[in-house]
Amino acid sequence: MRIAINAHNHTPPSHTATTLGSGRNIVVGVAGGIAAYKACHLIRDFKEAGDIVRVVPTEAALQFVGKATFEALSGNPVSTTVFDAVDEVRHVHVGQQADLIVVAPATADLIARVTHGRADDLLAATILMATCPVVLAPAMHTEMWENKATQANVDILRSRGIVVLEPAHGRLTGTDTGPGRLPEPSQIATLARAAMEGVLFDRSLEGKKILITAGGTREALDPVRFLGNHSSGRQGFALAEIAAHRGAEVTIIAGSIDNDLHTPSGARIINVSSAREMYTEVHRHVSESDLVIMAAAVADFRPAHQAESKMKKGSEAQQALERIELIENPDILRAITTARATGEIPSDLVVVGFAAETGDENTSALEFARIKLTKKDADFLMCNEVGEGKVFGQPKNSGFLLSRTGEITEIETADKHVVAGRILDVVTQKIR
Ligand code: CTP
Repeated sequence: MRIAINAHNHTPPSHTATTLGSGRNIVVGVAGGIAAYKACHLIRDFKEAGDIVRVVPTEAALQFVGKATFEALSGNPVSTTVFDAVDEVRHVHVGQQADLIVVAPATADLIARVTHGRADDLLAATILMATCPVVLAPAMHTEMWENKATQANVDILRSRGIVVLEPAHGRLTGTDTGPGRLPEPSQIATLARAAMEGVLFDRSLEGKKILITAGGTREALDPVRFLGNHSSGRQGFALAEIAAHRGAEVTIIAGSIDNDLHTPSGARIINVSSAREMYTEVHRHVSESDLVIMAAAVADFRPAHQAESKMKKGSEAQQALERIELIENPDILRAITTARATGEIPSDLVVVGFAAETGDENTSALEFARIKLTKKDADFLMCNEVGEGKVFGQPKNSGFLLSRTGEITEIETADKHVVAGRILDVVTQKIR
């Protein structure tokens, strides 16, 4: 059975895009917190993508960043009050015309006002008018974030379909650290775009523990050289980020990943280098997990000998490099499903593998994936075609999600966060 996945789950906005260009209408709301300066990068991100950006700050936000900066970056007039340009009925039109509203930073006060349906400034009124996705990126001190009042407000907003992002852990305004930091602007933009594409930020994974491997493994030849692969870790991190936003407790076991990847808010990272280290960490955490997603590109082989000091040019070392003897690494995924079959780990653990396939003249990539799913005894296998610049390191992905019961879900080309949402939509149904 082939199921085409629908790209839109939310009600589409009841308007058409305005005249200013081909981009979408994005409202960037800014509340009064020290992280207001980061909104400038967010505005830039949307502008560079060709979107039409309208910045709606609160009065307090203008204490941190001037109106002129927001006007220059967005190319649109900025006001905080419903009493400016009354003839344009701005308090109605800005929200009505938006394809997306994203507020960064969303302070405890702004969250409280939105929860209570207040319309006491242009930003609150705009949110109250919105029929498009609304994404709030909280930033505040840990105590304010963890306060029962804020948490209750966040629960209410989420139950109404407003996306409240998980704040990042890290350095806050002073020397203190904890949850409450604004996620990086690029992360906010990516998640907000995913919300606009219909990716659900529901709490369907609340109480579930998910283990995700990501990136490539490095198999050392000596202390400075290794055998590796092109995996960037992007798809694994995107899965972790969406799963964490759906309420899961996420552990990422990360091999080598691209430097620009940010730790997904709400996820824990364990860094490893080789396949054997990844095997050890997976083994350590698998029995407490409800779902394991093996998105890592694990090296099948490693050098049989690893030199303790750097191999210098010269006869002996050269010979070693000219003929690298390889031995097989453990198959981590197969070890998990074997342990599940023998009762060593819970039988209801859901296991998802990834297969980067190329196909050959006789067999399609999909056929290879089907064979691999059976061989590995996984519950699902996400098959994507690789080669010629596809998948590795790219922001987009596509493919087919195969299930052990024979269903094939086509996942159309989309940002890796959107693909992550589609994969989790299917896989979550199997978690008990
Ligand atoms: N995998 C693993 N341990 C390995 C190799 C792969 O756990 N030593 C996992 C990968 O993380 C992925 C799945 O198995 O989820 C399929 O990986 P792939 O490299 O396509 O599978 P292989 O068994 O190595 O098959 P091939 O011969 O096609 O390389």
